[in-house]
Amino acid sequence: PPDIPLANVKAHLTQLQSIATSNGGNRAHGRPGYLASANYVKGRLDAAGFTTTLQSFTYSGATGYNVIADWPGGDPNDILMVGAHLDSVTAGPGINDNGSGSAAILETALEVSRQALQPTKHLRFAWWGAEELGLRGSQFYVTNLAATERAKIKAYLNFDMVGSPNAGYFVYDGDDSDGVGSGPGPAGSAALERTLQDYFTSVGVQTRGTDFDGRSDYGPFISRGIAAGGTFTGAEGIKSSAQAQLWGGTAGQAFDVCYHRACDTTSNINDTALNRHADAVAYAVWTIATAVPPV
Ligand code: PHE
Ligand code: ZN
Ligand code: ZN
Ligand code: ZN
Repeated sequence: PPDIPLANVKAHLTQLQSIATSNGGNRAHGRPGYLASANYVKGRLDAAGFTTTLQSFTYSGATGYNVIADWPGGDPNDILMVGAHLDSVTAGPGINDNGSGSAAILETALEVSRQALQPTKHLRFAWWGAEELGLRGSQFYVTNLAATERAKIKAYLNFDMVGSPNAGYFVYDGDDSDGVGSGPGPAGSAALERTLQDYFTSVGVQTRGTDFDGRSDYGPFISRGIAAGGTFTGAEGIKSSAQAQLWGGTAGQAFDVCYHRACDTTSNINDTALNRHADAVAYAVWTIATAVPPV
């Protein structure tokens, strides 16, 4: 699997910051900064050879958008989906939440294009709207897919907050082995969890499980029985001293002190964490999508 260039990921964050700055300071659902963000992502994907769709929906009297990007080729009946929400709260520009996940998966998609990857699975990327208002974009997408189309999606990987300044290294607890999974996820979720853990093991970083309770866009997928996984560097939760021993950073302080605040800017990013989590996205995509199925 490739090493995703951190500088490229950060360049996307700079673009999202500048979009927020020139649109009233945020990229929230129904605000002009959201559509500008969606158009930025779509433009980069179109130029890289993806087949893209801007899917619109209405929520709370405003139009929201999902950007869906398909990489041509692969088994159309065996789809790996990778997603991140692109909207911010109204309070700020949302650079860690969730410019970070959006940029990490965008740069992974662009790397797929640079390498002209020919995966065995079909690859589909998604940037969701209105997550902050209750997973509205991902819910709309899953609900409006025909059952036959939904059945083709064999796995969904979600990245929401992967550059927290006081970072943790969390993997969704798909098998409930850490007892924080709210019960095991759909069949296949445990394997996705292991694949993501394998990346961190390969770079000598220990991970811990985190809630698999539907608090981000994988929720609508697991509620339909689709296997899901993902990583997370922490939000408003407080880093324990055991976690600070494991990962460095400051015990007794939130993983992201600027969570849902105006200070969630390009300064609110831990480069080391963002770099590793972006590489984890690529590791999982390459490992899962290029695996030769058993005959
Ligand atoms: N979905 C939350 C938000 O956007 C953040 C979060 C992600 C919380 C993953 C828990 C797990 O605000
Ligand atoms: Zn989020
Ligand atoms: Zn949020
Ligand atoms: Zn687990």
